[in-house]
Amino acid sequence: MSVIEEVPVVIIGAGVAGLTLATFLHTANVPCVVLERRNRASIEARQRAGVVDARGVKMFEQWGLADRLLAGPVAQTLDYRVNGVGRLFEIESDDSSKSRFCTQQMLVNNLLRELIDVRGGDVRFDVTDVTISNEDGQRPDVRYVQDGQKHVVACDHIVGCDADRGVSRASIPPDALTTITHEFGYAWLAALVEAPVVAHPIMAASDNGFVAQIPRGPQRSRYYLQCAIGDGLRDWPDERIWHEIRLRLRDDTIANAAVLDLEIVPLRSVVHSPMQFRNLYLAGDAAHLVPPTGAKGMNMALYDVDMLGLALVSAVRDHDEAALATYSATVLPRVWKYQEFSAWMTDTMHDAGDPTLHGLYRQMVARARLDALYSSPAAARLHSAFLGGTA
Ligand code: PHB
Repeated sequence: MSVIEEVPVVIIGAGVAGLTLATFLHTANVPCVVLERRNRASIEARQRAGVVDARGVKMFEQWGLADRLLAGPVAQTLDYRVNGVGRLFEIESDDSSKSRFCTQQMLVNNLLRELIDVRGGDVRFDVTDVTISNEDGQRPDVRYVQDGQKHVVACDHIVGCDADRGVSRASIPPDALTTITHEFGYAWLAALVEAPVVAHPIMAASDNGFVAQIPRGPQRSRYYLQCAIGDGLRDWPDERIWHEIRLRLRDDTIANAAVLDLEIVPLRSVVHSPMQFRNLYLAGDAAHLVPPTGAKGMNMALYDVDMLGLALVSAVRDHDEAALATYSATVLPRVWKYQEFSAWMTDTMHDAGDPTLHGLYRQMVARARLDALYSSPAAARLHSAFLGGTA
């Protein structure tokens, strides 16, 4: 026997996108259930992105949640380096909302506390065998198993926030989706280390390859090192990591520190469209991926759920489905705008370095692009707007 329930909105996936959307809906008194295949502790422990851009901060302010969910210092300055020579880039903005270094882990933990512990929101962990029924002309439902018990949740709207390999997008017939991908041809070694950023976050091109250092809380940082697409973790013992960091930053004074977590991330872009099929809506990584270079992955997910949250409130509370019907058409132009920015950052920072990558011509052009950020007020303003998410 199955347990059968009804709820207006089912959200699949309790990452940043799913939890943010559920919290928004809760704020607007729209009932929803969140289904998550992992347990709460493993969600709380996941390390990912580290910047909420100015637009994301403003969105949380507008939903009245910024004080409760966001923490971490303002991110206003970047140190762009070429072969060890750094220049500070100050993000310009005429708005009071500024980008923040708020790790995804901190945001997720705050969302879980706010949604579940403070508001009594309905997040169901450790669910398996999730299946989606989304047939033409029929009421959709989501079925799953928890503790050996089968459940059926009949609903009006399903939101897929279950990332790239989740069941939501997989439930859409392949001929109803177009997938566009781009491989950059190299990867990043992402190393979480027990050492803070000394002054400002660093994005560094060098003849020996790209390296970045981004804060992760007051005591730690994440280094990203360009590496070959076929590299494995065994190719990167700690000694090599620290040697390459010193080499690429041209700084022999950097001391080895503990490497707490290591991952290899291939740099790629993906967009699936449209981002909706009948009563199923895709948000965040379930719909699109960007290389991490521009720090836009989490921020694009936040934009999707902002638009979806408003559209679902209109549909469920006011019985106006117009914004839901045009959700994909509304967000896709912005998805492509930030795909372009992420590709610009990725090409520029890698081409400006290792000349064996794409040659000396691309190296000099990329360095000229970086120079323009310091010599052209118009280029600096546009770059600031992209970094802040307001372009
Ligand atoms: C990150 O937080 O992972 C991050 C931040 C800024 C970047 C790249 C990555 O430019």
